[in-house]
Amino acid sequence: SKPSVYITRRVPESGPALLAPSCQVEQWNKDDPVPREELLKRVQGKDALFCLLTEKIDEEVLKAAGPQLKVVGTMSVGYDHIDLTACKKYNVKVGFTPGVLTNAVAELTMALLLTTSRRLKEAMAAVANGTWGTWKPMWLCGPGLDGATVGIVGLGRIGFTIAQCLRPFGVAKILYSDKFENPHASEVGATYVSKDELLANSDFVLATCALTEETKGMFNKDLFKKMKKSAIFINTSRGGVVNQEDLYEALKSGEIGAAGLDVTTPEPLPTDSPLLTLDNCVVLPHIASATDKTRSAMSELTAKNILAALNGTEMPTEVKND
Ligand code: GLV
Ligand code: GLV
Repeated sequence: SKPSVYITRRVPESGPALLAPSCQVEQWNKDDPVPREELLKRVQGKDALFCLLTEKIDEEVLKAAGPQLKVVGTMSVGYDHIDLTACKKYNVKVGFTPGVLTNAVAELTMALLLTTSRRLKEAMAAVANGTWGTWKPMWLCGPGLDGATVGIVGLGRIGFTIAQCLRPFGVAKILYSDKFENPHASEVGATYVSKDELLANSDFVLATCALTEETKGMFNKDLFKKMKKSAIFINTSRGGVVNQEDLYEALKSGEIGAAGLDVTTPEPLPTDSPLLTLDNCVVLPHIASATDKTRSAMSELTAKNILAALNGTEMPTEVKND
């Protein structure tokens, strides 16, 4: 009989369409996440699980699935929601979707850089609420990117592409810190420095690292203190890399200049979050990869990973788990 796949959400059709001919597909066909109980029930006996970053894939899920489960394909580049140790223990392969979303995420990161540095949140509010009086020489001035030093914390695929996007804006310097040097960094003129050196010298600090044990809560009081008072902090990785209370204090007290966040803790961010009271904090609802083309490619790649794992062939993009 055909292998069975459970898809945890309504997703772009490109992925399910690839699975349909050779698999028995079951799907939570809604825009809201599958309830945990439903997931635990539906995953039973499945050969594959097609999930999103909103589903915690832990030992409980793998146990509920049973021994047929061969692969979990997440339609995301981040896989901090998946317990890799448990997957290894249960002999379950993990697929993710790097590459296809890189340009979209870099683009949205640029949007946050421009929005914060040119104070677009305040500017749009002024137009809407009637505080736009007249043209004023010193009103709503921001630092801009021309001549700036940009620090990229995590020069992976996404950080690298952001560096490429930055060049035509005339940035003076691109610094990066990471666990290892990126051998291609010189192609985008990015210089490897210590995190402290990056923080001290950057006008913009971009978080583009994965959420791991090492990066969890990394952007805290101490780090914000090491940044310039005018520094603009941008996060398009995971909310978990930031200590959000420390960020609020840093923004409120002027320890740093502004922040642009596509990711928060929790998501959705409650509407009474103090961050939302700040003019110098721009929050987006985790939309970095949200272009039609990208989401469709992510769905397709997730399906291809699953099909390859089911067929015992090499998965196009497997999470290394050893
Ligand atoms: C989105 O955050 C992703 O990990 O793809
Ligand atoms: C993610 O794709 C990264 O490596 O930056």
